[in-house]
Amino acid sequence: MFDVQKVRAQFPILSQTVNGKPLVYFDNGATAQKPQVVIDAISQYYSEINANIHRGVHTLSQLATDAYEVSRNTIQKHLNAKHNHEIIFTSGTTQGINLVANGFASIVKAGDEVMVSALEHHSNIVPWQFMCERTGAKLVVIPMNDKGELILSEFDRLLSEKTKIVAVNHISNALGTVNPIKYIIDKAHSVGAAVLIDGAQATPHLRPDVQELDCDFYVFSGHKVCGPTGVGILYGKESWLNQLPPYQGGGEMIKEVTFEKTTYAELPHKFEAGTPNIEAGIVLGTAIDYLNSVGFDNIAKYEKELLEYGTKRLQEIEGLKIYGTGENKASVISFNIEGIHPYDIGTIIDKLGIAVRTGHHCTQPIMNYFNIPGTIRASFAFYNTKEEIDIFVEAVKKAQRMLS
Ligand SMILES: Cc1ncc(COP(=O)(O)O)c(C=O)c1O
Repeated sequence: MFDVQKVRAQFPILSQTVNGKPLVYFDNGATAQKPQVVIDAISQYYSEINANIHRGVHTLSQLATDAYEVSRNTIQKHLNAKHNHEIIFTSGTTQGINLVANGFASIVKAGDEVMVSALEHHSNIVPWQFMCERTGAKLVVIPMNDKGELILSEFDRLLSEKTKIVAVNHISNALGTVNPIKYIIDKAHSVGAAVLIDGAQATPHLRPDVQELDCDFYVFSGHKVCGPTGVGILYGKESWLNQLPPYQGGGEMIKEVTFEKTTYAELPHKFEAGTPNIEAGIVLGTAIDYLNSVGFDNIAKYEKELLEYGTKRLQEIEGLKIYGTGENKASVISFNIEGIHPYDIGTIIDKLGIAVRTGHHCTQPIMNYFNIPGTIRASFAFYNTKEEIDIFVEAVKKAQRMLS
């Protein structure tokens, strides 16, 4: 049995008051809260084994290196990657996508195409625009419908031998849509295109199996999976990672350096130049272990209940419109209330202790599609409750009364 109160007790921040009210944290899409095991692991790293990794022969350096590599193995197992050198530590989803887009700039040519979707976060649009500017490749966009779902017949139509890479998110941060990525991956492969999946919003809710998906790249951020900020993961198939050039030059990514020529280290070090965020890399493994101990089946089942309950309760509010009404959705509800700016609602309910995101959520093309400046986004995690949803709905009603 999933016991939410037991889970909540593991997150110290959830028991505090904000603006004199118990905190209701519904901004999990932006970043997740941290359980005590994660907080303790950060402190333990600095109290006991802090040293630079992959360098020293001394004991602390060995301990830190071992812990870092144990974390890499944990993540390999979690994603079901074939090899641990297919797991590259990055600073987050954004850096993972930039690394791949930068690498593809040496592969694609003028006239080639790179495909993204209408549902992407800016960090899965702008790096590809950089790449297109450098190469003369063309950015092609899979459109969406009014429910916030990708139009697959258009994807099929747009896909061609010119398509070199398709980069789409697994779950939309702004609307919560779960995209049919297996279909997209298989179709893209049928024309020889590679596929990058932006898993920033999926990894807090489900456990991706990269071999079953057969994606070429899968990226996510540590801070959204109850881990620290400043760390993320790029999974890449060995063959692709060998083919792509290094992203940054520096210490640790080399085999031999002379002024005439430098050769690069083997995977994964070829992509890990410089001293990484060691503590965050180690603790990301702790966070993943923690989520697996809660269990992704439990998380999915419970969050579905929250989504259904939250949707039903919000629909009681007159003039409220939900954006993102697809069949397959994660626990994210984006909405507006007729005649009221989302920012004003967000500001009032903050005074009542409620944290939601307001604005364009780094997805301006989605906002342009709906012709709105932004939305109010409530994104639920497995440590939220129906009682919190009740508090939230009453607060939104109060804000509506004040602003009407
Ligand atoms: C779908 C999606 N992609 C990418 C990102 C960027 O993640 P980060 O800022 O952790 O690099 C986010 C962050 O909200 C996101 O939701």
